[in-house]
Amino acid sequence: TLVDPRRDPAAAAPVPNGFGPMLRKEDGRFVRGRGRFVDDIDLPGMLHGAVLRSPYAHARIVSIDTGGALAHPKVRAVITGADLERRGMAWLPTLSHDVAAVLATDKVRYQGQEIAFVVAEDRYSARDALALIDVEYEPLAPVVDARRALDPDAPLVRDEVPGRADNHVFDWEAGDAAATDAAFAAAEHVSTCDLLYPRVHPAPLETCGIVAALDPVTDRLVVHCTTQAPHAHRTLYATLTGIPEHRIRIVAPDIGGGFGNKVALYPGYLCAVYAATITGAPVKWTEDRSENLMSTSFARDYHMHGEIAATKDGRITGLRVRVLADHGAFNGTSQPSKFPAGFFHIFTGSYAIQAAHCRVTGVYTNKAPGGVAYACSFRITEASYLVERMVDVLAFDLGLDPAQVRRKNLLRPEQFPYRCATGWVYDSGDYPRALEQALEMAEYAELRAEQAQRRAEYERTGEGALLGIGLSTFTEAVGAGPKKQMDIGGLGMADAAELSVHPDGTAELRLSCMSQGQGHETTFAQIIAHELGISPYAVNVVQGDTDRTPFGLGTYGSRSTPVSGAAAATAARRVRERAKLVAAAMLEISPADLEWEAGRWQVRGDPAAGASLAEIARAAHGSLELPDDLEGQLSGRCVYNPPNLTFPFGAYVCVVEVDPGTGQVRVRRFVAVDDCGVRINPTVVEGQIHGGLADGIGMALMEVLAFDTDGNHLGASFMDYLLPTALECPSWELGQTVTPSPHHPLGAKGIGESATVGAPAAVVNAVLDAIGVRHADMPLTPAQVWSAMRGRPLRT
Ligand code: CDP
Repeated sequence: TLVDPRRDPAAAAPVPNGFGPMLRKEDGRFVRGRGRFVDDIDLPGMLHGAVLRSPYAHARIVSIDTGGALAHPKVRAVITGADLERRGMAWLPTLSHDVAAVLATDKVRYQGQEIAFVVAEDRYSARDALALIDVEYEPLAPVVDARRALDPDAPLVRDEVPGRADNHVFDWEAGDAAATDAAFAAAEHVSTCDLLYPRVHPAPLETCGIVAALDPVTDRLVVHCTTQAPHAHRTLYATLTGIPEHRIRIVAPDIGGGFGNKVALYPGYLCAVYAATITGAPVKWTEDRSENLMSTSFARDYHMHGEIAATKDGRITGLRVRVLADHGAFNGTSQPSKFPAGFFHIFTGSYAIQAAHCRVTGVYTNKAPGGVAYACSFRITEASYLVERMVDVLAFDLGLDPAQVRRKNLLRPEQFPYRCATGWVYDSGDYPRALEQALEMAEYAELRAEQAQRRAEYERTGEGALLGIGLSTFTEAVGAGPKKQMDIGGLGMADAAELSVHPDGTAELRLSCMSQGQGHETTFAQIIAHELGISPYAVNVVQGDTDRTPFGLGTYGSRSTPVSGAAAATAARRVRERAKLVAAAMLEISPADLEWEAGRWQVRGDPAAGASLAEIARAAHGSLELPDDLEGQLSGRCVYNPPNLTFPFGAYVCVVEVDPGTGQVRVRRFVAVDDCGVRINPTVVEGQIHGGLADGIGMALMEVLAFDTDGNHLGASFMDYLLPTALECPSWELGQTVTPSPHHPLGAKGIGESATVGAPAAVVNAVLDAIGVRHADMPLTPAQVWSAMRGRPLRT
């Protein structure tokens, strides 16, 4: 039964305690096709934009002739970089202390870069007219491989910056270099490995889009847009256009997946806003799939050199990493300002490693900008992959069981709160328990026995599939973030919640975070239900509209539950306390004599005397005389500044079968034990884990944005950029442990991205375990596996 209390009153019964499995309230509209996405918006007189993109990865623009396009009968305007330059909008400041071209003025720096924007009466005419623009290019040699970007003769990507002599973006380090060097000098054993986390793409089902309009009545800019952070976008639009914030409204309607792809501002958005201002008409722009894959934010692209120091029996004594980070043509990474490599320095993962040091060098190349946190908390996916792979490399070199090496090095529960070697304080965890549970669910010993038997059979007969078992015991760090440590583009990373209880006892919760499919309309209503003892169906969750919600930084990096969830719970507690004072006035009793029980304040020792929240709400809005210091009505708000991140974790076991003749991998089983503290809605949590595990299989086995030596993009459609489907995924086997976060009001930690962080290493470890190879880079396509088995792994 679909959950609609009007059709199924039984479904309206509150889940016990507010928390628990409950079907999502929003799914009724989604499964009936009644979702309202940006491309569903159709305003009177609306025009349509299309972007002309560069065929070259690197070329000087000699001239742009827009005459042919302007002559098209349905074209209303053609915008070039020169037009934007006159308004100071040709370059946009990025969130990483750089600028990025909106429309190219001097040269193009990657294939697919935006050059001109055509505005026409319909989408087809706009696209047709792109072919009528005549651009003369002078092709330049591109730099495509990050490992060549700092060569003295490498072509210069950012030669518009006076005095720039190379493609260097930044150097950044964390940890104690001297202590780490000493640990390595004293080490009984050192293993090293070069690893690539390839360039991949968040690839949400819905691509990016916008409808920009100037409201002729209020003279305000109204933007409907695919954005994971409406309030932050409002501030950015104000900075870029000069329109003050109070005259801008950003609305994010239903969104078909974000995964980090919808955090940044893209040239298409700004062109649509500019086009609306010059035409006076609403302008819609919607990317197609190839545009999304070619030009909007990529993720990862980290070349890592890892070194791990250990005793001969596998106790880790040091970890050292050098990273070459490919940032593409502009440093457009969306991440906290002080961390050019995001949270990469949480690379000691779940292990008690006393000495650790990382150095990251960022470089420009002729590829699209980005470096977004694709379903992860700011580069922690790269960090987690690194350490989980290095632990397996160490086990391989020492001839030890990877499970044993993990047992020996995992942090123990009594070590929490734990300050890691690079200074982060992990809030809580019980890693050994999660690992043992996962190994038990997987029947690890039996799997190892089967593996040995299959290997022997293959060696004897040359037939049969090889079995691989891969582990990953990862730690995520989500809920960015504490003001003392981080901001994004100068904005502190707080989130707010406002809760009003109506006279009839139902409520409205207004949030600064923004669901892109994670089910916030349900789970945030459950938080209020938990705190106020009312039905989650009695709570209307408002999000994604800057005119109707309080300021906050939005949803990415699994921060909604840790930050907005805490704000919502705190706002509800404030409402509850206010309700107590109203109830005391109603009952003519001291507040000290009241106790809270199942949605009502009642007299201690006389439970029959009391008032329910609905009765209190009615009284608070009514004619009841309230004490002088108590305003009428019933509402509360909270701006939540998280004191720390939350640290969800998990233990994964992946079981694969590899066909040694073809290199084909089949994921036979995947056991995932996750701990995200208290679970608000276990069904939603499991859905988040399922999605992340599928993502992990995708990255490990098939996803890569590849380029040829000319910088041509080789993955511009889903024919070439492969995504996993149900066919590649096993039936997930989930387990859980619950270690509450001590500083979160509900004890909850984020979960949205744990599985994307933890899964790739488990899959890669399993495949390499099957074929007995020390290391080969992702994606482990059949060609890669086949070559690795022959001692010649491919380099992307
Ligand atoms: O920021 P985002 O919503 O992507 O990530 P999240 O905070 O990890 O939450 C993802 C979904 O799982 C939301 O609907 C949360 O309310 C839900 N969740 C939960 O029910 N219990 C948790 N401990 C964590 C998340």
